Amino acid sequence: MTIHIGAEPGDIAETVLMPGDPMRAQWAARTFLDSPRQINAVRGMLGYTGTWRGHPVTIHGSGMGMPSLSIYANELLRDFGVRTLMRIGSCGGMQPHVGLRDVILAMTASSISTPSSSLMRELRFAPCADWGLLRAAAQAAETRGITPHIGGIYSSDTFYDERPDLNDQMTRHGTLAVEMETAELYTLASRYGARALSVLTVSDHLLTGDAVSSADRETGFSAMVEIALAAAFP
Ligand code: ADE
Repeated sequence: MTIHIGAEPGDIAETVLMPGDPMRAQWAARTFLDSPRQINAVRGMLGYTGTWRGHPVTIHGSGMGMPSLSIYANELLRDFGVRTLMRIGSCGGMQPHVGLRDVILAMTASSISTPSSSLMRELRFAPCADWGLLRAAAQAAETRGITPHIGGIYSSDTFYDERPDLNDQMTRHGTLAVEMETAELYTLASRYGARALSVLTVSDHLLTGDAVSSADRETGFSAMVEIALAAAFP
């Protein structure tokens, strides 16, 4: 057991999918895994382990934002021996050619700060996805008739943003979308020698102000789970 994960060693698979929302973790585990069993509920952060096509998989919530994700990712990587950590979540589109419900595979993530920033001191570390996972996810998406956007995203510390000028610069420099977790996920995976990838769907758009309905969010979420599982076990 760790401070935030009430599981025994061996309860957690080497491959973990992380939605932000713990109820999504419950739904995905019950929908996609065989024999899912709950392995965590500390502070309501639900985690489940089961199998997918015979492979052990854990689906565990991360919470919102990098400080929350950092707690769970640190404990999973350091204390539970997790080797593959995939975020499945939503993001806000930042390019005109990125549409609502599109799938984004994050190659890298810019940030102003992450929980690891103080460790890096003056270094601007460039967090990056695992290439094997990224390639497998791109193939898995295309097999399902989905053409993903692949490129850089922005991991923000705020959902309610007060810096439109900064968003303009992100858009100008080709950033595909904004979310709140990936820069720290990729940094931690690098630190622990593990593989990481964020598979995202566009739930709202910064340029148009449009947003998808909650029913659409569910459909997009299913596609992300399928892509992530297929990429983890190609
Ligand atoms: N996640 C989904 N949409 C977002 C947005 N607009 N900003 C930050 N995180 C998000």
